[in-house]
Amino acid sequence: MAARHFLTLNDMTTTELESLVDHASKLRDEWHQGKVRDTLKNRVLAMIFEKSSTRTRVSFEAGMAQLGGSALFLSPRDTQLGRGEPIEDSAIVISSMVDAVMIRTFAHDTVERFAAASRAPVINALTDDFHPCQLLADMQTYREHRGSIRGATVAWIGDGNNMCHSYVNAAAQFDFHLNVACPEGYEPDAGLLKAHGDRVTVFRDPAEAARKANLLVTDVWASMGQEEEQKIREQAFRSYQISPALMQVADKDALFMHCLPAHRGEEISADMMEHPSSVVWHEAENRLHAQKALLEFLILNQLD
Ligand code: CP
Ligand code: NVA
Repeated sequence: MAARHFLTLNDMTTTELESLVDHASKLRDEWHQGKVRDTLKNRVLAMIFEKSSTRTRVSFEAGMAQLGGSALFLSPRDTQLGRGEPIEDSAIVISSMVDAVMIRTFAHDTVERFAAASRAPVINALTDDFHPCQLLADMQTYREHRGSIRGATVAWIGDGNNMCHSYVNAAAQFDFHLNVACPEGYEPDAGLLKAHGDRVTVFRDPAEAARKANLLVTDVWASMGQEEEQKIREQAFRSYQISPALMQVADKDALFMHCLPAHRGEEISADMMEHPSSVVWHEAENRLHAQKALLEFLILNQLD
Protein backbone atom coordinates (compact mmCIF):
# COMPACT_ATOMS: atom_id res chain seq x y z
CA MET A 1 0.00 0.00 0.00
CA ALA A 2 1.36 3.45 -0.93
CA ALA A 3 2.20 5.69 2.03
CA ARG A 4 -0.23 8.46 2.95
CA HIS A 5 1.40 11.90 2.97
CA PHE A 6 0.35 15.18 4.59
CA LEU A 7 1.59 17.95 2.30
CA THR A 8 -1.55 20.11 2.48
CA LEU A 9 -4.90 19.81 4.28
CA ASN A 10 -6.29 18.48 1.00
CA ASP A 11 -4.45 15.20 1.55
CA MET A 12 -7.21 14.28 4.01
CA THR A 13 -10.96 14.18 3.84
CA THR A 14 -13.02 16.44 6.10
CA THR A 15 -14.06 13.37 8.12
CA GLU A 16 -10.44 12.36 8.62
CA LEU A 17 -9.44 15.89 9.63
CA GLU A 18 -12.28 16.14 12.12
CA SER A 19 -11.43 12.73 13.64
CA LEU A 20 -7.80 13.77 13.85
CA VAL A 21 -8.64 17.01 15.66
CA ASP A 22 -10.91 15.11 18.09
CA HIS A 23 -8.17 12.57 18.68
CA ALA A 24 -5.69 15.39 19.35
CA SER A 25 -8.00 16.73 22.09
CA LYS A 26 -8.17 13.26 23.60
CA LEU A 27 -4.36 13.04 23.57
CA ARG A 28 -4.21 16.48 25.19
CA ASP A 29 -6.49 15.33 28.05
CA GLU A 30 -4.55 12.09 28.52
CA TRP A 31 -1.26 14.01 28.56
CA HIS A 32 -2.57 16.41 31.20
CA GLN A 33 -3.71 13.43 33.29
CA GLY A 34 -0.17 12.01 33.11
CA LYS A 35 -1.20 8.88 31.18
CA VAL A 36 1.64 7.05 29.45
CA ARG A 37 1.08 6.11 25.80
CA ASP A 38 3.51 4.07 23.71
CA THR A 39 1.71 3.60 20.41
CA LEU A 40 4.85 4.51 18.42
CA LYS A 41 7.31 2.37 20.36
CA ASN A 42 10.45 1.69 18.28
CA ARG A 43 9.22 3.98 15.48
CA VAL A 44 11.52 6.67 14.10
CA LEU A 45 10.69 10.04 12.57
CA ALA A 46 13.31 11.81 10.42
CA MET A 47 13.02 15.60 10.64
CA ILE A 48 14.61 17.63 7.84
CA PHE A 49 14.84 21.34 8.67
CA GLU A 50 16.06 23.74 5.98
CA LYS A 51 14.54 26.68 7.90
CA SER A 52 14.58 27.61 11.60
CA SER A 53 11.97 26.33 14.06
CA THR A 54 11.14 26.24 17.75
CA ARG A 55 7.56 24.91 18.06
CA THR A 56 7.63 22.50 15.14
CA ARG A 57 10.92 20.91 16.13
CA VAL A 58 10.13 20.62 19.83
CA SER A 59 6.60 19.31 19.27
CA PHE A 60 7.59 16.64 16.74
CA GLU A 61 10.65 15.53 18.69
CA ALA A 62 8.92 15.54 22.10
CA GLY A 63 5.80 13.98 20.56
CA MET A 64 7.73 11.00 19.16
CA ALA A 65 9.54 10.48 22.47
CA GLN A 66 6.29 10.68 24.45
CA LEU A 67 4.72 8.03 22.21
CA GLY A 68 7.65 5.67 22.80
CA GLY A 69 9.54 6.40 19.56
CA SER A 70 12.36 8.72 18.60
CA ALA A 71 13.18 11.51 16.17
CA LEU A 72 16.28 12.42 14.17
CA PHE A 73 17.09 16.07 13.52
CA LEU A 74 18.66 16.42 10.06
CA SER A 75 20.07 19.74 8.99
CA PRO A 76 21.19 20.37 5.42
CA ARG A 77 24.49 21.61 6.88
CA ASP A 78 25.34 18.11 8.11
CA THR A 79 23.66 15.86 5.53
CA GLN A 80 24.38 15.25 1.88
CA LEU A 81 21.13 17.05 1.04
CA GLY A 82 23.01 20.29 1.65
CA ARG A 83 25.77 19.18 -0.73
CA GLY A 84 23.44 18.56 -3.63
CA GLU A 85 22.41 14.90 -3.32
CA PRO A 86 19.20 14.71 -5.38
CA ILE A 87 15.98 14.94 -3.33
CA GLU A 88 14.67 11.71 -4.84
CA ASP A 89 17.82 9.75 -3.93
CA SER A 90 17.68 11.12 -0.39
CA ALA A 91 13.99 10.24 -0.15
CA ILE A 92 14.55 6.62 -1.24
CA VAL A 93 17.37 6.14 1.25
CA ILE A 94 15.93 7.98 4.27
CA SER A 95 12.47 6.46 3.85
CA SER A 96 13.98 2.96 3.71
CA MET A 97 15.24 3.43 7.29
CA VAL A 98 12.52 5.34 9.16
CA ASP A 99 8.74 5.23 9.68
CA ALA A 100 7.93 8.82 8.68
CA VAL A 101 9.69 11.93 7.41
CA MET A 102 8.94 15.54 8.32
CA ILE A 103 10.29 18.34 6.13
CA ARG A 104 10.47 22.11 6.58
CA THR A 105 11.82 23.76 3.46
CA PHE A 106 11.46 26.58 0.94
CA ALA A 107 9.88 25.43 -2.36
CA HIS A 108 6.71 23.37 -1.96
CA ASP A 109 7.91 21.34 -4.92
CA THR A 110 10.68 19.93 -2.70
CA VAL A 111 8.22 18.16 -0.37
CA GLU A 112 6.20 16.94 -3.36
CA ARG A 113 9.29 15.46 -5.00
CA PHE A 114 10.43 13.91 -1.74
CA ALA A 115 6.98 12.39 -1.15
CA ALA A 116 6.77 11.00 -4.68
CA ALA A 117 9.96 8.98 -4.07
CA SER A 118 9.33 8.13 -0.41
CA ARG A 119 8.19 4.78 0.90
CA ALA A 120 7.30 6.34 4.27
CA PRO A 121 4.68 9.00 4.99
CA VAL A 122 5.95 12.58 4.44
CA ILE A 123 4.72 15.53 6.51
CA ASN A 124 4.98 19.13 5.34
CA ALA A 125 6.24 21.05 8.37
CA LEU A 126 6.09 24.36 6.43
CA THR A 127 6.99 25.39 2.91
CA ASP A 128 6.87 28.80 1.25
CA ASP A 129 3.30 27.89 0.21
CA PHE A 130 1.61 25.98 3.05
CA HIS A 131 1.79 25.21 6.78
CA PRO A 132 -0.87 22.51 7.30
CA CYS A 133 0.39 21.25 10.70
CA GLN A 134 -0.30 24.66 12.22
CA LEU A 135 -3.89 24.48 10.99
CA LEU A 136 -4.46 21.17 12.79
CA ALA A 137 -3.47 22.89 16.05
CA ASP A 138 -5.52 26.00 15.24
CA MET A 139 -8.66 24.00 14.43
CA GLN A 140 -8.19 21.95 17.59
CA THR A 141 -7.78 25.13 19.64
CA TYR A 142 -10.90 26.74 18.18
CA ARG A 143 -12.94 23.60 18.85
CA GLU A 144 -11.67 23.31 22.42
CA HIS A 145 -12.75 26.90 23.16
CA ARG A 146 -15.84 27.44 21.02
CA GLY A 147 -17.02 24.10 19.59
CA SER A 148 -17.43 23.51 15.84
CA ILE A 149 -16.01 26.17 13.51
CA ARG A 150 -18.58 25.23 10.81
CA GLY A 151 -20.37 28.37 9.59
CA ALA A 152 -18.03 30.73 11.49
CA THR A 153 -16.25 33.76 10.03
CA VAL A 154 -12.46 33.86 10.34
CA ALA A 155 -10.55 37.08 9.63
CA TRP A 156 -6.97 36.77 8.43
CA ILE A 157 -5.20 40.12 8.89
CA GLY A 158 -1.89 40.48 7.03
CA ASP A 159 0.19 38.73 4.43
CA GLY A 160 -1.38 36.28 1.95
CA ASN A 161 1.41 33.82 2.85
CA ASN A 162 1.86 30.11 3.58
CA MET A 163 -0.29 30.32 6.74
CA CYS A 164 -3.00 32.26 4.90
CA HIS A 165 -3.01 29.62 2.12
CA SER A 166 -3.54 26.88 4.68
CA TYR A 167 -6.42 28.93 6.14
CA VAL A 168 -7.97 29.03 2.65
CA ASN A 169 -7.77 25.22 2.49
CA ALA A 170 -9.13 24.97 6.03
CA ALA A 171 -12.12 27.17 5.12
CA ALA A 172 -13.12 24.62 2.49
CA GLN A 173 -12.36 21.54 4.60
CA PHE A 174 -13.88 22.75 7.89
CA ASP A 175 -16.69 24.77 6.28
CA PHE A 176 -16.14 28.36 7.42
CA HIS A 177 -15.82 31.72 5.64
CA LEU A 178 -12.43 33.43 5.45
CA ASN A 179 -12.07 37.22 5.23
CA VAL A 180 -8.55 38.23 4.23
CA ALA A 181 -7.37 41.82 4.83
CA CYS A 182 -4.10 42.60 3.06
CA PRO A 183 -2.44 45.43 1.15
CA GLU A 184 -2.51 45.39 -2.64
CA GLY A 185 0.14 43.04 -4.00
CA TYR A 186 0.14 40.78 -0.92
CA GLU A 187 -2.97 38.73 -1.69
CA PRO A 188 -3.01 34.93 -1.35
CA ASP A 189 -2.21 32.91 -4.49
CA ALA A 190 -4.61 33.82 -7.31
CA GLY A 191 -5.25 30.20 -8.31
CA LEU A 192 -6.13 29.22 -4.76
CA LEU A 193 -8.45 32.24 -4.43
CA LYS A 194 -10.15 31.32 -7.68
CA ALA A 195 -10.65 27.72 -6.57
CA HIS A 196 -12.24 28.89 -3.31
CA GLY A 197 -14.03 32.04 -4.46
CA ASP A 198 -17.16 31.05 -2.53
CA ARG A 199 -15.20 30.74 0.73
CA VAL A 200 -12.82 33.68 0.71
CA THR A 201 -13.37 37.45 0.52
CA VAL A 202 -10.42 39.81 0.15
CA PHE A 203 -10.62 43.24 1.82
CA ARG A 204 -8.24 46.17 2.01
CA ASP A 205 -9.63 47.46 5.31
CA PRO A 206 -8.78 45.25 8.34
CA ALA A 207 -11.85 46.54 10.24
CA GLU A 208 -14.18 45.43 7.43
CA ALA A 209 -12.60 41.96 7.40
CA ALA A 210 -12.78 41.71 11.20
CA ARG A 211 -16.40 42.87 11.53
CA LYS A 212 -18.37 40.28 13.54
CA ALA A 213 -15.64 37.65 12.92
CA ASN A 214 -15.42 34.72 15.35
CA LEU A 215 -11.65 34.35 15.05
CA LEU A 216 -8.91 36.86 14.19
CA VAL A 217 -5.58 35.46 13.01
CA THR A 218 -2.33 36.96 11.84
CA ASP A 219 1.30 36.09 11.18
CA VAL A 220 4.61 37.88 10.66
CA TRP A 221 4.83 40.47 7.87
CA ALA A 222 8.07 38.99 6.51
CA SER A 223 8.29 35.20 6.47
CA MET A 224 11.44 33.11 6.58
CA GLY A 225 13.29 33.71 3.33
CA GLN A 226 11.88 37.27 2.99
CA GLU A 227 14.25 38.94 5.47
CA GLU A 228 15.51 41.38 2.83
CA GLU A 229 11.96 42.67 2.31
CA GLN A 230 11.47 43.47 6.03
CA LYS A 231 11.65 47.27 5.63
CA ILE A 232 9.43 47.50 2.57
CA ARG A 233 6.91 45.15 4.20
CA GLU A 234 6.85 47.21 7.41
CA GLN A 235 5.66 50.11 5.25
CA ALA A 236 3.12 48.10 3.29
CA PHE A 237 1.58 46.42 6.37
CA ARG A 238 1.72 49.25 8.90
CA SER A 239 -2.08 49.53 9.16
CA TYR A 240 -2.57 45.74 9.31
CA GLN A 241 -2.12 45.20 13.03
CA ILE A 242 -4.35 43.19 15.36
CA SER A 243 -4.98 45.27 18.47
CA PRO A 244 -7.66 45.46 21.19
CA ALA A 245 -9.37 48.16 19.07
CA LEU A 246 -9.65 45.77 16.12
CA MET A 247 -10.97 43.02 18.42
CA GLN A 248 -13.77 45.45 19.36
CA VAL A 249 -15.34 45.21 15.89
CA ALA A 250 -15.25 41.40 15.93
CA ASP A 251 -17.87 39.19 17.60
CA LYS A 252 -17.88 39.68 21.38
CA ASP A 253 -16.70 36.07 21.86
CA ALA A 254 -14.04 36.25 19.13
CA LEU A 255 -10.72 34.50 19.69
CA PHE A 256 -7.27 35.71 18.68
CA MET A 257 -4.62 33.30 17.33
CA HIS A 258 -1.08 33.61 16.00
CA CYS A 259 1.13 30.72 14.89
CA LEU A 260 4.16 32.46 16.50
CA PRO A 261 6.84 33.70 16.63
CA ALA A 262 5.12 37.08 17.10
CA HIS A 263 6.49 40.57 16.55
CA ARG A 264 4.90 42.90 19.09
CA GLY A 265 4.52 46.37 17.61
CA GLU A 266 4.27 44.95 14.06
CA GLU A 267 1.46 42.50 13.21
CA ILE A 268 0.13 42.67 16.81
CA SER A 269 0.08 45.42 19.39
CA ALA A 270 2.20 44.85 22.50
CA ASP A 271 -0.83 43.85 24.61
CA MET A 272 -2.43 41.27 22.27
CA MET A 273 -0.66 38.15 23.55
CA GLU A 274 -2.25 38.57 26.98
CA HIS A 275 -5.58 40.02 25.73
CA PRO A 276 -8.66 38.14 27.08
CA SER A 277 -9.43 36.90 23.54
CA SER A 278 -5.93 35.45 23.08
CA VAL A 279 -5.49 31.66 23.02
CA VAL A 280 -1.96 31.74 21.60
CA TRP A 281 -0.27 29.69 24.34
CA HIS A 282 -2.96 26.99 24.20
CA GLU A 283 -2.61 27.06 20.40
CA ALA A 284 1.17 26.63 20.62
CA GLU A 285 0.87 23.68 23.02
CA ASN A 286 -1.66 22.06 20.70
CA ARG A 287 1.06 21.67 18.08
CA LEU A 288 2.28 18.80 20.28
CA HIS A 289 -1.08 17.06 20.58
CA ALA A 290 -2.18 17.62 16.97
CA GLN A 291 1.09 16.26 15.64
CA LYS A 292 0.97 13.21 17.89
CA ALA A 293 -2.48 12.51 16.42
CA LEU A 294 -1.08 13.06 12.91
CA LEU A 295 1.89 10.74 13.52
CA GLU A 296 -0.40 7.98 14.80
CA PHE A 297 -2.71 8.46 11.81
CA LEU A 298 0.09 8.30 9.24
CA ILE A 299 2.31 5.65 10.84
CA LEU A 300 -0.34 3.33 12.30
CA ASN A 301 -3.10 4.22 9.86
CA GLN A 302 -5.57 4.55 12.72
CA LEU A 303 -6.87 6.92 15.37
CA ASP A 304 -8.12 5.49 18.64
N1 CP B 1 4.44 28.19 14.32
C1 CP B 1 5.58 27.55 14.00
O1 CP B 1 5.62 26.75 13.07
O2 CP B 1 6.64 27.85 14.80
P1 CP B 1 8.16 27.44 14.59
O3 CP B 1 8.67 28.20 13.38
O4 CP B 1 8.85 27.85 15.85
O5 CP B 1 8.24 25.95 14.35
N1 NVA C 1 4.80 32.68 7.65
C1 NVA C 1 5.81 32.32 8.63
C2 NVA C 1 5.31 31.24 9.52
C3 NVA C 1 6.28 30.83 10.61
C4 NVA C 1 5.76 29.71 11.47
C5 NVA C 1 7.08 31.91 7.90
O1 NVA C 1 6.98 31.18 6.91
O2 NVA C 1 8.17 32.31 8.32
